[in-house]
Amino acid sequence: MDQPREYRTASGLGVYRLQPAVGAVVSGIDLAAPIAEDQAEDLRQTLYAHGVIFLRGQAHIGFAEHLAFARVFGEPIDDGPDPARPMITPVRSKAGSREGTASVWHTDGCYLPVPPAVSVLRAIEPCPFGGDTCYASAVAAYAGLPEDLRQEIESLRFRSSLAERMPKKNDSFGTAEKWDELRAKYPEVHQPVVSVHPATGARALYANTTWSLDIEGMPVEVGQALIRRLSEEYARPEYQVRWQWEPGALAIWDNRLVMHYGVPDQTTDRYLERISVKQGPILGIGDRPASVAAELQTA
Ligand SMILES: [Fe+2]
Repeated sequence: MDQPREYRTASGLGVYRLQPAVGAVVSGIDLAAPIAEDQAEDLRQTLYAHGVIFLRGQAHIGFAEHLAFARVFGEPIDDGPDPARPMITPVRSKAGSREGTASVWHTDGCYLPVPPAVSVLRAIEPCPFGGDTCYASAVAAYAGLPEDLRQEIESLRFRSSLAERMPKKNDSFGTAEKWDELRAKYPEVHQPVVSVHPATGARALYANTTWSLDIEGMPVEVGQALIRRLSEEYARPEYQVRWQWEPGALAIWDNRLVMHYGVPDQTTDRYLERISVKQGPILGIGDRPASVAAELQTA
């Protein structure tokens, strides 16, 4: 956080920070051209420093360039609905509808054993008025907690489940049978309430009311009250940045560093495409990355 508002990276990328706690626009890159390794490293470090970065003026790229760009951040996840492009998760919102906008503070896929580390969202048909995306720094949210609360939550883990959080019947997920399938496909996982970033060691809140059921080893009500207390932090404007979509824009966020919220006030239909990448399980305080653990075993 000690950088000035505007700076240039070693490989020549321009960085313009949008808010002190979170968010920066990166310029000086054309995603139609191959991304050099020094630029890739700068993109990763800029993302890790600011939690979410944005690119403009990339309307001339397509799926192949989107995919190549996502690979800068990790291995693309290929569980999307289109067999021809399984890395794409379509993000579709109807004008005036709250459905499909994810209008709750959340981090993507924290109900998975290996959640998406970084998500790369590209505007295909953005909404010219409304339909913004807000991001909140989970690092600032953690750092701003009272010291005794930080200590209290240090080694806690929360239970997360996709199926348990879904209504048994709604338009997106269909019937009760579909719900049973979901439950079988996505068994419950336990995630750290405070995550530690594998590349930087940054600590961040990872629990969120959207995907957390309760806290391991605590009465359900007590755990849920604690998760609600922690999630209130994401609502502080000083931890947030709000991104207005435009043609050719991309948003790249680290799911371990920020929470996000789709503002459901799109005045036209909106269509974005997301590619997410994985890097490994979410680490808590005291956990070692799998690569380090393996090295220690063979040492
Ligand atoms: Fe999301």
